[in-house]
Amino acid sequence: MTFSTSSSFSRILSPALILLTLLALTSACGLAQSTEPRGSIEITHGPVLQLPGLNEITVTWHTSRNAVSEVRYGEGETLDKRAVASTLGLIPNESTCQAVRLTGLTPGKTIRYQLVSKAFRGYKTPYVPIFGQTVESEIFSYTHLDPAKENFSFVMWNDIHDDCERLEAMFQDVDWDTIDFVVLNGDIVNDFISDKQFFDAFYDACARQFGSSIPMVFVRGNHETRGPWARRFFEYIPGVDGRSYYAFTHGNVYFLALDSGEDKVDDHREYAGLVDFVHFRDEQTKWLLEELKSDACKNARFRVVITHQPSATSAEDWFGSQEVRRLWRDAINEKGAHLWLSGHTHRFSWCKPGEDGDNHFHLMTNPTDGTVRVDVSPDTMQVTVIRKGGEIIHEETISP
Ligand SMILES: [Fe+2]
Repeated sequence: MTFSTSSSFSRILSPALILLTLLALTSACGLAQSTEPRGSIEITHGPVLQLPGLNEITVTWHTSRNAVSEVRYGEGETLDKRAVASTLGLIPNESTCQAVRLTGLTPGKTIRYQLVSKAFRGYKTPYVPIFGQTVESEIFSYTHLDPAKENFSFVMWNDIHDDCERLEAMFQDVDWDTIDFVVLNGDIVNDFISDKQFFDAFYDACARQFGSSIPMVFVRGNHETRGPWARRFFEYIPGVDGRSYYAFTHGNVYFLALDSGEDKVDDHREYAGLVDFVHFRDEQTKWLLEELKSDACKNARFRVVITHQPSATSAEDWFGSQEVRRLWRDAINEKGAHLWLSGHTHRFSWCKPGEDGDNHFHLMTNPTDGTVRVDVSPDTMQVTVIRKGGEIIHEETISP
């Protein structure tokens, strides 16, 4: 094939080929995101506070474009501190999931904080990054957890399985002014297929109801380990120091949140050879045995364990629960746990001390439509399980 003249070649080239050439050059410069509106950015979801620890908490939110983010915060009138996320010294710029850990918080003190995200459009050269607009949120406030607080309350839900309407209906059964934190104990997302699912299942509802001022403690269930986005779960629910299991103390109560993983054996056909929970639970067991020696655990008036799958109480229970029992139950029992909160079975059950061999702790499984409310005072933990709509299923008073 030959081209007849240079002028006809030009006509063939323009305008389509010129446009394609420009697009290719733009992409080569790392500016693939610079579609309309150019450089703009919005906060699309959140904030939701997560993972409270002594002096620390993680602020999460989401943006319409990849961004470089920070949180400005302070305990007084001015936002005189600044925190960013960083991994191995690098501040992330390639995600719309923003998660910044605030440190240096004073127990019981109220902070004011503001989210700041600057759109990141790519690199013109390795030394010339291209930023877009910056968005700043309103100023929020949050009172940090306090190990010395005498009286407090928290609530727990589990097994929502994407049914946000049910979750929001149960929000109506709560007197929110009295709640210090919220536990979401697994299977909230029913197989993680997309980020829209994550937001629709619970995150946006939590942000609307309590997320900016009341921390969320999310404990992974077996359905959050499934689906194409399961491996991105920690962009949305960041762990503590890279772990999905952790401990914290509030009001002289030591909380141990453990990740019970999948409910069947690793080589089950459902998992297609893509899981390794045997090693994961073994790693966690090593961490747990050290954690149980901590002063925080030893000195607490009450000890509460949170796992999605309960410790098995019958030979008929599934593999995951049998593993929870085999690996963790005796060590926890020996340390004098008082209450073990679980879900997974979709049925209410309550096992009192002595009803499962030598158990010292109360073990409960909460149904899919139950709100667990725990009111803690120096002398008792009062547990109330409320069916959606307000009917009380169970009440229990636990002493130290
Ligand atoms: Fe489950």
